[in-house]
Amino acid sequence: MAETPAALLFAPLDVKGARIRNRIVVPPMCQWQAADDGVVRPYHLAHYGQFAIGGAGMIIVEATAVERRARIRGEDLGLWSDDHIKGMSELAGVMVEYGALPAIQLGHAGRKAYRGGTRAVAPSAVAFSESYEAPDEMTHGDINTVRQSFVDAAVRAEKAGFRALELHGAHGYLLHQFLSPISNRRSDEFGGSAEGRLRFPLSVAGAVRRAIKQSTVLMIRVSAVEYSPDGYTLDDMIGMCRAFKQAGVDIVHVSSGGSVSVAPPSWPGYQLGFARAIRDAIEMPVIGVGLVNTPDLAEFALREGFCDLVAVGREMLRNPNFPLRAAAQLGAALPIREDLKLVLERAFK
Ligand SMILES: Cc1cc2nc3c(=O)[nH]c(=O)nc-3n(C[C@H](O)[C@H](O)[C@H](O)COP(=O)(O)O)c2cc1C
Repeated sequence: MAETPAALLFAPLDVKGARIRNRIVVPPMCQWQAADDGVVRPYHLAHYGQFAIGGAGMIIVEATAVERRARIRGEDLGLWSDDHIKGMSELAGVMVEYGALPAIQLGHAGRKAYRGGTRAVAPSAVAFSESYEAPDEMTHGDINTVRQSFVDAAVRAEKAGFRALELHGAHGYLLHQFLSPISNRRSDEFGGSAEGRLRFPLSVAGAVRRAIKQSTVLMIRVSAVEYSPDGYTLDDMIGMCRAFKQAGVDIVHVSSGGSVSVAPPSWPGYQLGFARAIRDAIEMPVIGVGLVNTPDLAEFALREGFCDLVAVGREMLRNPNFPLRAAAQLGAALPIREDLKLVLERAFK
């Protein structure tokens, strides 16, 4: 009888000397549980800790604001000051303690920002929708300031112990706003052509790469398509990802949408095709995401070459022990610390 092949979902992946114990990623998911100061609270330690205990390979902390005016809501986590480092190092520490690779998403909401006493900035003074005020168009001074805020936040995250950093270039937030012709109407060197629209996000990636250690994994989350005839295409995004790779990005996390208020049609694995298109075209590791809710679909996505890592979002919220259930179902060893097996094997084997 042919031997059953070992589950790919539980094959470790080495990137830049960082070992990811299996291919299951917790994608960034805003929790909005911080106070106005953006500091880590006990909730965050418990929330992210449960995924590490539950066996996830890499956990990406929710969109974390690089400036106060970068917040999506007033309860976002922040890394805009050195005062955030202590709590963040406790958070990274909990993940390391239980074997997950600690990662964090660095974000700027741009025109979709919370207006808690601050003005929003964006590539152009175009409101996202009628329920948002128009933002201020960024001056060249603003562009330099925001780039430096990303760099400073990245260095703080690294100091706190995060081994992987994800730039939020998706879902209609600031970096995506520059990439998209829907939100970027500039006529200077940061707008206009595809090359112009790419210039600022690319310079952020390059500046962050130069400021962090070579061994720190740099990722970018992108929206592969915009679900609007006015947006860029998947082919355009492939070209952008090629440039990000050249700027030193190690992994692309492939999502979609967010420039316009259209909910994309979705079904299990609905964005995996975009991930594979980018993976095939530029030959770099990609994270696939989108209603990958079952161990079989996650394993299928890897075996069929859609992606190198699979992000499981809402299913991990429902079931933080999803990796343990998947391991039991796919016949792999439980992906957890030895001393936890004594207890958890009783539940999952
Ligand atoms: C509660 C919630 C918060 C989210 N917050 C973020 C975020 O901070 N950054 C981000 O890039 N995506 C965010 N997302 C999108 C998820 O990362 C993920 O791409 C999406 O939920 C699809 O994956 P799923 O079908 O496995 O849940 C969020 C999704 C949810 C449900």
